[in-house]
Amino acid sequence: MREPLLRRHACIVAYWQEGELIFENYATRTRIVARPPAPDILHLFGRWRRPEAVIARLPDYTASSLRALIAGLERYSFLVRADAPVHSQSQLETWGAWNPAAGFFHMSTKDGRYPRDPGVTDRRLRRKAAHSPPPAVVKRYEGARQVPLPPADTLGEFPQVLLARRTWRDFSRRPITIAELSTLLALTWRIQGWIDIPGQGQMPLKTSPSGGARHPLEAYVWVRRVSGLRQGLYHYASDSHVLEQLTTGEGGRRVVSYLPGQWWYESAPVLVLITAVFPRVQWKYDFPRAYRVVLAEAGHFCQTFCLTATWLGLAPFCSMALADSRIEHDLRIDGVTESVLYAAGVGKRPRDRARRPTFRTHR
Ligand SMILES: Cc1cc2nc3c(=O)[nH]c(=O)nc-3n(C[C@H](O)[C@H](O)[C@H](O)COP(=O)(O)O)c2cc1C
Repeated sequence: MREPLLRRHACIVAYWQEGELIFENYATRTRIVARPPAPDILHLFGRWRRPEAVIARLPDYTASSLRALIAGLERYSFLVRADAPVHSQSQLETWGAWNPAAGFFHMSTKDGRYPRDPGVTDRRLRRKAAHSPPPAVVKRYEGARQVPLPPADTLGEFPQVLLARRTWRDFSRRPITIAELSTLLALTWRIQGWIDIPGQGQMPLKTSPSGGARHPLEAYVWVRRVSGLRQGLYHYASDSHVLEQLTTGEGGRRVVSYLPGQWWYESAPVLVLITAVFPRVQWKYDFPRAYRVVLAEAGHFCQTFCLTATWLGLAPFCSMALADSRIEHDLRIDGVTESVLYAAGVGKRPRDRARRPTFRTHR
């Protein structure tokens, strides 16, 4: 039987860590320590080749040791087979010129490790602060001429909404209403109009800006306690202002597992999972810096959501400590062409004033 045709995986980076040369396949998130002749083997598999052809080029090593190494490199996904099913090839290869910088960053920052008990982090930081205080939170230019500014205009609804926004971590048991959810989704994600970009077609316009009006973001809504709406997971159709139901059920424990260690969001009636459809941006911007654009947009949308919720007298929050792969599995998205980036949620404010977020205002 002929040996299979193999090729080096397209998503490999190398770096030194603790004195060892590491090869990382950032698509499959596998790492190996690269000892000779592994670098030579991977180099020779730069195009489709059979193992025998590579073995013939490395006469200093025995055929059996090279065969074993090639098998290992294939097992750890550093070599791919020409006859492998298409699905086992990495979607990340479609990121083209976004690789390796953005692809490596995207994959290696997925599924952060979060402490089960946030108290552990808190105690660690207290110990750290004792010998290494945190950096100053403001920057000053001592000696520079200072120009006092006139008092800011904080009257009116808009400044008051801005000043009232806080991250809430305690919610009333009362559900929010379908009307409140509708307003939140419409003012944050709904397409408000269209712009014609010659030769590129119609692009949507929303209340938040988007680089090149590509609008890569999507919103999935876990409805847990909304009066007038069945529990379940929905996708918000931003063109028609419709919720598309994907699953039913309260999803309690599952939704909590999306936000590891953040028990304070457990009782939130609504969780919005914000994803990005990267090809919308990659189609126009064929360089990895555009990944930054997508992240900035997630911030714009989340802030709009939080401000709208504040204006409605609700209790919004946001979180980036997410169990990405678990969420992506449930949303049935592949985590590469569409990936979760951020989550926002909302509930009713607790009536008990002691459960409200506190902060000291400046004089
Ligand atoms: C990008 C981003 C990520 C955040 N992630 C979390 C999080 O994982 N868990 C959480 O409880 N709060 C999270 N927050 C909320 C911050 O902790 C909160 O904004 C901060 O404490 C300041 O409070 P304020 O929002 O009331 O001004 C996040 C905020 C931002 C902007």
